[in-house]
Amino acid sequence: MDSKARRYLFEKAKEFVYEAGQRIKDQIDQPRTIETKSNPNDLVTEMDQNTEKFFAESIRNEFPEHRLFGEEGFGDDIQDLKGIVWIVDPIDGTMNFVHQKRNFAISVGVYEDGVGEIGVIYDVMGGALYSAIRGEGAYKNDLPLRMPEKKRIEETILALNTSWLIPENPHINHAGVAELVKTIRSTRSYGSAALEFVYVAEGIIDGYLTMTLMPWDIAAGKIIVNEAGGLVTTADGRELDMLNKTTVLASHIDIHKEIIENYVQLKTK
Ligand code: IPD
Ligand code: CA
Ligand code: CA
Repeated sequence: MDSKARRYLFEKAKEFVYEAGQRIKDQIDQPRTIETKSNPNDLVTEMDQNTEKFFAESIRNEFPEHRLFGEEGFGDDIQDLKGIVWIVDPIDGTMNFVHQKRNFAISVGVYEDGVGEIGVIYDVMGGALYSAIRGEGAYKNDLPLRMPEKKRIEETILALNTSWLIPENPHINHAGVAELVKTIRSTRSYGSAALEFVYVAEGIIDGYLTMTLMPWDIAAGKIIVNEAGGLVTTADGRELDMLNKTTVLASHIDIHKEIIENYVQLKTK
């Protein structure tokens, strides 16, 4: 894709995201139908589904040759990332959407032959649009995002899920995570992977360590964090698999290796 085509695609991605966000805002106080998916805490509403349908229609109308990899199943059956693939999470942070009516985001990553070209994450109720084009930097609305120059692990705030700290769990040795928590300044848990990525890019937290994300949780955030100067890998430092469930460490460059080598012991690869 040449730079003009990329710029056009970026403008269209933002246009779709703003329109989808407006539809959600218009209906934020309407009664919700809430269903569960893989477990009683894995929630989905008609708003998740309608938003993904809106993306499916918009992409098919404007870019019939592109494919959609979406969480709610209205996209294509994606087995590879050949050509141009939109990887969309219509509402990331559905539990926050249901319980709080805030702290959720729309996440759209556009990949070409597996390479992340465009990332857009919209904090719908907060009104902040985070975006990046590969090689052109990351932005919050119109302001460039750049992570702090230097970071020592003792001075960091990391986004972590407490369910891997308090009990034993199938993913990671919780003693190592407990040691990490003792070392750093503090932890946060926002309940939206997309927002956790952009907060790393913004430098308001320094890292995000998590065990079970899907490609639509990661696609846009990875591009935005990379463009702000951060690193995104699996929790044991490998390149991310953008087709399957994965662990993730997104962080400031100065602490990435140290977290992996000193604190992360995964139970499964
Ligand atoms: C979830 C959120 C949550 C993360 C989960 C995701 P959803 O996405 O990003 O923060 O911990 O792993 O599944 O279901 O709200 O789109
Ligand atoms: Ca999600
Ligand atoms: Ca979702």
